[in-house]
Amino acid sequence: MSDIVVVRDLEKTYEGGVTALRRVSLDIRQGEILALLGPNGAGKTTLISCICGISQPTSGTITVGGHDTIADYRAARALIGLVPQEINLEPFETVMNTVRFSRGLFGKGSDDGLIERVLRQLSLWDKRDAKVMALSGGMKRRVLIAKALSHEPRVLFLDEPTAGVDVELRRDMWDTVARLKGEGVTIILTTHYIEEAEAMADRIGVIAKGDIQLVEDKETLMRRLGQKQMTIELHDTLSEVPAGLERYDLALGEDGHSLIYSYDTQGARTGITKLLSDLAAEGIVLRDIQTRQSSLEDIFVGLVREDAP
Ligand SMILES: Nc1ncnc2c1ncn2[C@@H]1O[C@H](COP(=O)(O)OP(=O)(O)O)[C@@H](O)[C@H]1O
Ligand SMILES: [Mg+2]
Repeated sequence: MSDIVVVRDLEKTYEGGVTALRRVSLDIRQGEILALLGPNGAGKTTLISCICGISQPTSGTITVGGHDTIADYRAARALIGLVPQEINLEPFETVMNTVRFSRGLFGKGSDDGLIERVLRQLSLWDKRDAKVMALSGGMKRRVLIAKALSHEPRVLFLDEPTAGVDVELRRDMWDTVARLKGEGVTIILTTHYIEEAEAMADRIGVIAKGDIQLVEDKETLMRRLGQKQMTIELHDTLSEVPAGLERYDLALGEDGHSLIYSYDTQGARTGITKLLSDLAAEGIVLRDIQTRQSSLEDIFVGLVREDAP
């Protein structure tokens, strides 16, 4: 798969001195759903705004479909649909006109057939003549998506599409996103819900304090999330892992004073009870035990903590 968006060494410092992005580099693959997961203030909206040309990068480069977002702004922007974090719709306008107008803004000729398809796809066709103010919150969010799709973008950015939305509507949104992907649209969404990233994404990027901490396939990430390490401090030094304990995933600590056991917290059993009794059977005397989450989980725990009010 080729990369449709390429971000290199992107830095953004706002007037007033807040640095929202620190040398961010990111490749977004054609056709994927990428979730950018991070707490409030991490820089998610700033990153999207820079890619969409709403916010001027301090330094670094961005291309969309091979077009530089500054030198070749129009060509780059034409490929992008943006669903903003805030609902910003004209309340007295009808759904149909709202979406039509949006297409016009991109200099595209009117195409009511296309707009009908978009509205049907988002289950808004029955509401085409309703005024925006008469719609529920979930429907307004779908109108925002319809607007973003009105000019046939190849990349769709959804900035916190389900923040403050109830659970049912959230699932609805997840289904909508899956359908759009099925039609070949590349989707980047931001969220501060781990389970949302898990439910929707092909890849997950973790962003915190203006830095992309990691970008990884969801499956790999979820497996690593389940890994934990237990360090068993020993009374006496060992020169090697005893033969009787070979079936465990054990490593000898640097000085031979500890054994390190890796296990899967999501597995049916951790194996800890059996390991401890087998250690005793080998005549190994323990001094202390510590468990440690994988570094990835540390990141997540850190994110959640920062997210708390
Ligand atoms: N227009 C702005 N002017 C100054 N600082 C801003 C502006 N927009 C965002 N920031 C700051 O940049 C940082 C990142 O914000 P933002 O990109 O909105 O994060 P997120 O979308 O992840 O919540 C925050 O510290 C925020 O206060
Ligand atoms: Mg934001």
